[in-house]
Amino acid sequence: MIIHASELVTLKGPKRARTKSEMSELALIKDGAVAIDDGVIVDVGKTSSVLKEHASRGSTRIDATGKVVMPGFVDPHTHLVFAGSREFELGLKARGMSYLDIMRQGGGIYRTVRDTRAESADGLFRQASGRLKSMLSHGSTTVEAKSGYGLDKAVEIRMLETVQRLALSSPVTLVPTYLGAHATPPEYDGRADEYVDFIVKDVLPEVARRHLAEFCDVFCEKGVFSVAQSKRVLLAAKSLGLRLKLHADELNRTGGAELAAELRVTSADHLAHPSDDGMVAMASKDVVGVLLPATPYASMSRDYADGRRLIDVGVPVALGTDFNPNCWNESMQFTISLACFKMRMSPEEAITAATVNAAAALGLEKSIGSIEGGKRGDVIVLDVPSHEHIPYRFGTNLCSSVVKNGKLVWSRD
Ligand code: NIG
Ligand code: FE
Repeated sequence: MIIHASELVTLKGPKRARTKSEMSELALIKDGAVAIDDGVIVDVGKTSSVLKEHASRGSTRIDATGKVVMPGFVDPHTHLVFAGSREFELGLKARGMSYLDIMRQGGGIYRTVRDTRAESADGLFRQASGRLKSMLSHGSTTVEAKSGYGLDKAVEIRMLETVQRLALSSPVTLVPTYLGAHATPPEYDGRADEYVDFIVKDVLPEVARRHLAEFCDVFCEKGVFSVAQSKRVLLAAKSLGLRLKLHADELNRTGGAELAAELRVTSADHLAHPSDDGMVAMASKDVVGVLLPATPYASMSRDYADGRRLIDVGVPVALGTDFNPNCWNESMQFTISLACFKMRMSPEEAITAATVNAAAALGLEKSIGSIEGGKRGDVIVLDVPSHEHIPYRFGTNLCSSVVKNGKLVWSRD
């Protein structure tokens, strides 16, 4: 039982992604409490009534006096597994080199592909495991994790096996995504169509057969994979039973939002440059828009997605860290702050986007993302008196306890 929350942010509401004004409804309870039994939420309400109802239970009690209690963050977009780091690119970016310039010169994704191919399975596991612990300590209880730095079959599969191993060793729920179409590998230089053939004929069938991924994702971008190439990969993945995601309109207006709507993907991510028609089409097909404000921040770009406009046209908006070697952001708290300060989202909208809508971006909105009877007991305690303080106080970890499936798995003390 977690009792005496100064604000219990329940996000009680429809068991689907929230849109428009629904994104502002947090369904707060003052002096709130939540009871969890056998990993599942069994009661939510005022502390007095929850205590009365469950007086005999509650072997563990957390007193949240003066604190916010809310659903664990769901981080629906990370590149968690890779070797090394790219801190040295910071200086290049400061001197005006763009993300795509760095990549064309063999840096960026290509640098991380070299490092990742050279790393052992144990090394990949150790590095990712440390990052995942940090994410958990910042309140993320569910984390999506993509492949995409092996590109060849063996290393892509090694990355997905690493995600499986992380899932067995960490309390965090991991959702694996195959992102073979992240870049054309050097051995296929200038032959992107042949690389797409290889993904479709050789890698995807094995990923599906071994259930190594729930989702398939593609980096659809000018100079990376075209709309036609992206569509080929995604349709092949769909026919093998995978669900779909898309890196859409991140750096250029590429037609990603339109493709996302046409294929009814679960989520289209980034969306810094979608067309108006693309946004409207996404809204009409219930495609979740996952916004990643730490990416332009880390890329020293001013091109933040227009969260305000996406919400106003009816796209269910979610937030993710986009943790990757270009954007070392482990914190959904910092992400919420950026969403408010850089994308004109309100604190309530950003919190909805980081919980129940992020769950919808993973197809998990029926089991996580809000504090309601029957949902999984993934609950966090933040050392602030009200939810507006979460974006307001940026740059420190506000989390004091993390409860996963009803068990205390991290605490500041
Ligand atoms: O989501 N845009 C493509 N992929 C990642 C970045 C990967 C990298 O730079 O290593 C992203 O931002
Ligand atoms: Fe990404």
